[in-house]
Amino acid sequence: MRISLGLCLLFLLSLCLNGCSGAEDEEKSPDGDAAEQDFDSAESDGDTDSDCDEAADETENEAEADIEYHQDMNLEAERPQLHYTPESGWMNDPNGLVYYKGEYHLFHQYAPEGFFKSAMHWGHAVSTDLLHWEYLPIALFPDDEMGNVYSGSAVVDWNNSSGLCETDANGGQSCLVALFTHSGGSDGRQKQSLAYSNDRGRTWNMYAGNPVLEANPAIKDFRDPKVFYHDGTSSWIMLLSSGRSLLFYSSQNLMDWQYKSDFRMEPFVNFNHIWECPDIFQLPVENENGLKKWVLKVDVFDGGPYGGGSHGQYFVGDFDGNSFNSESLRSVFQWLNYGRDFYAAQSWSDIPAEDGRRIWIAWMNNWSYAIQIGVENWQGSMSLPRELSLRRTGAESGEEYRIIERPIAEFEQMRTATIKDESDVEIKNDSDISIKSINAPYEIECEIEDADHGELCFEIFNGSDSSASLCIDFEKNSVSVERNSSAAAELNPGFPGVHATPEGLQWKNPLKLRIFIDRNSLEAFIDDSQYVITELLATHSGASELLITASEADNVTLPSLAVYELRSIWAHAD
Ligand code: FRU
Repeated sequence: MRISLGLCLLFLLSLCLNGCSGAEDEEKSPDGDAAEQDFDSAESDGDTDSDCDEAADETENEAEADIEYHQDMNLEAERPQLHYTPESGWMNDPNGLVYYKGEYHLFHQYAPEGFFKSAMHWGHAVSTDLLHWEYLPIALFPDDEMGNVYSGSAVVDWNNSSGLCETDANGGQSCLVALFTHSGGSDGRQKQSLAYSNDRGRTWNMYAGNPVLEANPAIKDFRDPKVFYHDGTSSWIMLLSSGRSLLFYSSQNLMDWQYKSDFRMEPFVNFNHIWECPDIFQLPVENENGLKKWVLKVDVFDGGPYGGGSHGQYFVGDFDGNSFNSESLRSVFQWLNYGRDFYAAQSWSDIPAEDGRRIWIAWMNNWSYAIQIGVENWQGSMSLPRELSLRRTGAESGEEYRIIERPIAEFEQMRTATIKDESDVEIKNDSDISIKSINAPYEIECEIEDADHGELCFEIFNGSDSSASLCIDFEKNSVSVERNSSAAAELNPGFPGVHATPEGLQWKNPLKLRIFIDRNSLEAFIDDSQYVITELLATHSGASELLITASEADNVTLPSLAVYELRSIWAHAD
């Protein structure tokens, strides 16, 4: 990774992102006091008006220029090959994830000229398989009057409840409707707006009656609406974040919203930080036949484990169309990911019932350092899309249910060369397995017999002096990733470190592990995906080395060990 432009300026902003919080003593509720959100303070100090002027200068023609599908991106030395990245510019949260007429839409927070140079837009790409992406023109533009286009969601309005859908050739009346936050603008506030598209998301119209939902003027943080259709009450539900509360609204037409309830942080934990980017959905419990539970996911802007930073958490319980009732134990924080780089996850809306999967993707980054690390002319990557379910884990861990995140099955098609496929592999102190000249992206899939002591480590070298490792500690029963010697470690003191799962994990023996290594990241799915570690690493292209070592353990047995090189998502022929 390389330092992006204006490091000094970036450093100042990052100090502000991490340290200028005014959120210490605020109370958040629909009609509570204002909260301070550092991202916004930093941005308005940085002259939102001129950002918007600049954005207004972008001609629609430029934006609608025909953007070719980029097969040559696999030739860019530092470009991740499995994880989605914007062609150029800055990207953060995934937005507006929706499946419609054979396409998965991925919108995202997007500053086309870079974080400091443009206001926020919605960038756009589509895919038919969630693996290969086609860039489309920018979908939503900021403007001086309404402000930046911040995060939000999209749904298919199947029965034209909004009255905004045109009749198609078959007499159907459905269209895409996006609900998102306008932030700043002439009133400097955050409010929810609506945009719609009648041509499969290719062009978007701002609804003339925007904003559709405003808060009490005392409320500063009021953003990131996630909208879904609730069958039980035959209503649209909007969930959004407001400081340390989440707010539920309902509507019949996606335009008129009635407040229903709030869900507050305080009974669970008293953070000095705010929530962002909520999502809510039902998931099947895979070891309790037929049972489904509601999951409420939300992201903490700062204050995550490992000394702060942004992090996702979740609650399991019930939603009745009005309010969410958490069954998660109050003393326990259920973190989504034990790495540092999985934020603002959002799930796809409207995946057909025949498929039935709940799939989500996250911004693979952390506000602690995101602005300071970057590659060439683009910044930001998404996680791998994963399929979600719940597993009942038993109360001994303090967590009744855990989210299980499996990389979507489609990734199996990406395997090209099988570098290793062996059974009953013994690794002893002095008999490391070394796989030289392996090219990212690659995948390791293995089972590991439990041992009494010692460690089993996967060391990832990139050919230069940059390396990282994932280790299984058999004594502590935990898994960790160390990225101290990663090249990006110099850029921000929050980047290096060892990031581990809690100790005392009661994994099933043999431990099932899958690790995906891309050119700038590692994603490990541990104990059949019950624990996940997502970490950015130093960028590495070209051949690198994988070393599997056992230390102190007498020997470690791997009932199975497979290593596959994977195809680039940017290099398919059709
Ligand atoms: C989360 C977030 C959202 C906001 C967006 C702005 O990463 O801060 O709350 O809508 O980013 O880009």
